[in-house]
Amino acid sequence: MSVIDASIREDFPALAQEINGHPLVYFDNAATTHKPRAMLESVQKYYEHDNANVHRGIHELSNRATTAYEGARDRVAQFLNASTREEIIFTRGTTESINLVASTWGVANLAAGDVILLTELEHHSNLVPWQLLAQRTGAQLRFIPITGDEGVLDQGNLAALLQGVKILSFTHISNALGTLNPVAELCKKAKTVGALTLVDAAQSAGHLPLDVHTLGCDFLAFSGHKLCGPTGIGVLYAKKELHSDLPPYQGGGEMISKVEFQTSEFNIAPHKFEAGTPNIAGAVGLHAAMDYLDGVGLEAIRKHDFELACYAKERLAEFDGIRIFGPEQERGGLVSFVFSDVHALDLATMADQQGVAIRIGHHCTQPLHKKLGVPATARASFYFYNTLNEVDRFVEVMQKVIQQLK
Ligand SMILES: Cc1ncc(COP(=O)(O)O)c(C=O)c1O
Repeated sequence: MSVIDASIREDFPALAQEINGHPLVYFDNAATTHKPRAMLESVQKYYEHDNANVHRGIHELSNRATTAYEGARDRVAQFLNASTREEIIFTRGTTESINLVASTWGVANLAAGDVILLTELEHHSNLVPWQLLAQRTGAQLRFIPITGDEGVLDQGNLAALLQGVKILSFTHISNALGTLNPVAELCKKAKTVGALTLVDAAQSAGHLPLDVHTLGCDFLAFSGHKLCGPTGIGVLYAKKELHSDLPPYQGGGEMISKVEFQTSEFNIAPHKFEAGTPNIAGAVGLHAAMDYLDGVGLEAIRKHDFELACYAKERLAEFDGIRIFGPEQERGGLVSFVFSDVHALDLATMADQQGVAIRIGHHCTQPLHKKLGVPATARASFYFYNTLNEVDRFVEVMQKVIQQLK
């Protein structure tokens, strides 16, 4: 019996629709989540009543827009238990947050011979920016390996891997396998060699309580759209002590304090990293999404995700020829799998005809899939508005589809 009542689905207009004559079963939450009415209304209200540009105006609407935008920053600081609001930098999403760190701190602080430590689980967003940085600076990349199909990090050789490391950047929850990494432990170990840490919280923000002090990280990145917020807004948490080590990111309005024809002086953080007109409505929507999620309860969401993932794993294990990935215990709310004799693309296409939305492919983790020896996996990813009945329906559809395909 779940801790979250299915009546919560009524808050999500998009869930109450039929696809191809069947009730929608939306199991693609790792890609993006659906939006509660309270979030949608907050954005509409902002545009209808308060719309103006921030920071520069003296008029009423500009003051309201500024209050709303900066209020969202306070809300995110509270959501992460950051020490100060200045530690919250608004970006377009996880991808931009990681690129920001790589191209500011990374370019200013890394040199040939330095090591960037990642894991084999990383999303391309937490791999390619570091590859680009390594090419620019001569730094090298190293990877903490995984144990096998269960996708747990093998820390056996970690002490050696940490030698010469300047930054350890890793995912909190793997979007491909569901692995929930021991963030606090890894950050503590990185600190022993003086390395900074960046946590990719794209799959954990909004799925469990986050406290940057308990985690002990220096940077943390996430995207609003994966936690019931709008697309195009994300967050980089950057510890205050590091702000002076970060040169500006992009140049433009808002990020300066004084501009001459030849040179400029820069604003203080976080504005130094937010050039141009920000995504004000996105920040407003993110604020509302966080209020909504706190109302549901992040601990309850964590339990619900886990319950659905365990139940789906148990039901999928009934199939012949299935290979299921991801750990038994420390895991988030998703299950990835392949069938020995059924192509994942056929599976997802036919599931869609029955109203079941799952994702297939490499999930932006091509090197991980290569390591596992599969070009693609099928992934069902859950959120708190999904139900055990939907898992049953998904399994029923899988059974039907497989019979047809064999
Ligand atoms: C673990 C992880 N990191 C990073 C990203 C990139 O997020 P975005 O595309 O919102 O920037 C994703 C998106 O799926 C993800 O799952």
